[in-house]
Amino acid sequence: MTSNIEESAVTVLGLGPMGRALAGAFLDAGLRTTVWNRTPGRERELVGRGAVGARSPEAAVAASRLTVLCVVNYDAVDAIVRRDAVTDALKGRTVANLTADTPDRARGIAAWAAEHGIGYLDGAIMTPTTTIGTPDAVFLHSGLEELYRKHRPVLDALGGTHTHLGEDIGRAAAYDIALLDIFWTAMAGYAHALAVARAEGITARELAPFAEGIATILPAIFEQSAEEVDSGTFSGEDNPITSAVSSMAHIVHTSEAHGIDAGVMRAAEGLARRAIGRGHGTDGFLRITEILNPR
Ligand SMILES: NC(=O)c1ccc[n+]([C@@H]2O[C@H](COP(=O)([O-])OP(=O)(O)OC[C@H]3O[C@@H](n4cnc5c(N)ncnc54)[C@H](OP(=O)(O)O)[C@@H]3O)[C@@H](O)[C@H]2O)c1
Repeated sequence: MTSNIEESAVTVLGLGPMGRALAGAFLDAGLRTTVWNRTPGRERELVGRGAVGARSPEAAVAASRLTVLCVVNYDAVDAIVRRDAVTDALKGRTVANLTADTPDRARGIAAWAAEHGIGYLDGAIMTPTTTIGTPDAVFLHSGLEELYRKHRPVLDALGGTHTHLGEDIGRAAAYDIALLDIFWTAMAGYAHALAVARAEGITARELAPFAEGIATILPAIFEQSAEEVDSGTFSGEDNPITSAVSSMAHIVHTSEAHGIDAGVMRAAEGLARRAIGRGHGTDGFLRITEILNPR
């Protein structure tokens, strides 16, 4: 049985912007927080607020039952934890890896952790650093339910909502990939829209309120289309693919008339045309989900 003080201790490895935000939230919640970063100096402000700055990652992980990892990717995770001294120090303890990477990498590191008697939870942070420690933070977790429940009180100190997605260790990373797919595709669309708008003499400031209006259409689509997508029916009653593809063609032509690369929109248009070619012209645009992944 661990004592209360050990249960309320936590180690954070990786003090980039996100690692510093996590460690800061733990400190604000009153947890004994030990920190380490590959490049020294980044711990200074946290140590000034009461964190313990460890001299090595092995000393850092030895200070707490739970170590939270938050570095650039799993190559960096490997570089830190797959060294004998750190692996030995982690034995019998738990790692909650909040670093972003792919589901396969999460499964690989979980197998390594199991081989070495290390408890392993994988996770993803879906909101920016400014939300950490506030109700707006969103964390996704996967891994053994029992292990998650055990460490949940410490993770709760990060604020926001925590969702356990199941025991398949790759699940948090899979949600992360899907959600970032939405984010980066939308950002690429926005960047392209800004370029076309500029070519037509419209500033980003002028476009902004209308861009917000377009973005607010999406949440209802996510909600309303879920059952259709899961059941493989794609009603195009209000906006069939034939109409969508015509709108896309206008964007392609306008872009290319200004010498602007329309590759992203051409890719979407091409998928829509394939769906029409297969007889789905009266379906909704999300029919292309099945063109992309016929299962
Ligand atoms: N920033 C955000 O708003 C945000 C939001 C959601 C999720 N995330 C995720 O959180 C994670 C951390 O992001 P971040 O914003 O803190 O910045 P980052 O630039 O993604 O990561 C910086 C951290 O990675 C460490 N690092 C890089 N290569 C390393 C290596 N080979 N060995 C050891 N450490 C290494 C850096 O150490 P050095 O200081 O020594 O270079 C630093 O601690 C990422 O996976 C990111 O996708 C970030």
